[in-house]
Amino acid sequence: MSLAYGPHHLAIPGPSIVPDRVQRAMHRASPNIYEGELVDITKSVISDLKRLANCSGDVAIYHGNGHAVWEASLCNLFSRGDRILVINTGRFGEGWAIMAAGLGIDVVSLEVEPGIAIDQEKLASMLEGDTGRQIKAVLSVQTDTAVSSRNDIASIRNTLDHVGHPALLMIDAIASFGCEPFDMDGLGADVLLSASQKGLMTPPGIALLFIGERVWSHHETANLNTPYWDMKPRVQPTMFPEHFCGTPPTHHLYGLREALDMIMEEGIDAVWNRHRILAQCVWSAVDAWGIDGDLRCRVPEVANRSLAVTAISTGSGQAVRLRRWCEQEMGVTLGVGLGSRSTEAILDNVFRIGHMGHLNPPTLLGVLACIDAGLKALKIPHGAAAVEAATRRISESVSGNY
Ligand SMILES: Cc1ncc(COP(=O)(O)O)c(C=O)c1O
Repeated sequence: MSLAYGPHHLAIPGPSIVPDRVQRAMHRASPNIYEGELVDITKSVISDLKRLANCSGDVAIYHGNGHAVWEASLCNLFSRGDRILVINTGRFGEGWAIMAAGLGIDVVSLEVEPGIAIDQEKLASMLEGDTGRQIKAVLSVQTDTAVSSRNDIASIRNTLDHVGHPALLMIDAIASFGCEPFDMDGLGADVLLSASQKGLMTPPGIALLFIGERVWSHHETANLNTPYWDMKPRVQPTMFPEHFCGTPPTHHLYGLREALDMIMEEGIDAVWNRHRILAQCVWSAVDAWGIDGDLRCRVPEVANRSLAVTAISTGSGQAVRLRRWCEQEMGVTLGVGLGSRSTEAILDNVFRIGHMGHLNPPTLLGVLACIDAGLKALKIPHGAAAVEAATRRISESVSGNY
């Protein structure tokens, strides 16, 4: 007998849950795409996105997913044969590097063991070794969604400054934007990438390129640039549809407007704080499960963990059984375990919990309780009182006079 009933709960790390408000905002007739409400909405969306990123530069919007904005970021800045340094902390850094190599860019990789902090000394020595200053940019993800690690972007910036290397700093915050702080101006990041389908709580289909001032001189000489990807008319359109190189993603813009309203109403700091506390609930539960058996957070150090997703390693095959049980018996879909693109694509000993975007204590605690039930039902060895550990974290962080 299955207890899966009513709305199915999606706990994968993107696409994330789309709030009813966002769905309702998208449920409308097509608007005029030359003047009127959509033009105003787009202006306000760009302004709020810049506020969320603390970006004083420009924002280009693409109809597309994360891969689209990866390609846009590379085509706008580089020429065939240019050298870049990609910090490979997991599948997504690797994916960006593979795309760059496929475009004919000369990619140098700093390989980082998944879940372990970037070795800044190693990065410094690679940058120091680049005496001819051939490396045009350093690329890193903020959160590697497969590993669920969080890279310390401020340390990368410090290393670049310490070495005195002029390379651009390009950050993929596709999984973390809207879930944890990103201060583009404060960090001196030159390029920031994001997309609609994770912390921004909007269906997949909008990809965002935040552009710092230093980037424009690279753009002038980039021979990989093509008319569709070109960011210049997108940020300086002479006519509204040029923002999008054609028809705008009309309904997505309405959805994103509503999602940003929700973020601004809650308050940006409160959104980040909610993500931090809910992430800590997950880690507390995993630590308790791990007291007996194989369950562990894939990222050992708390400081290196993402606030948006947690990858949990299990004994061989257990993650797959648990995911299937939770989906079929509870109506909760957990994220698959992702390995590297060059080796094993799907891991049978890892599952992931997405805790990004539209999430609150009842839904997250429900997910943890369903996993706990699954571990018992499947007789997967685990420690006790995991849900209690998570609720303790909540009670410690919420105060009020009642
Ligand atoms: C950090 C990161 N970068 C890039 C991507 C690729 O995005 P998409 O699947 O939308 O192309 C993802 C997808 O999960 C991601 O998490």
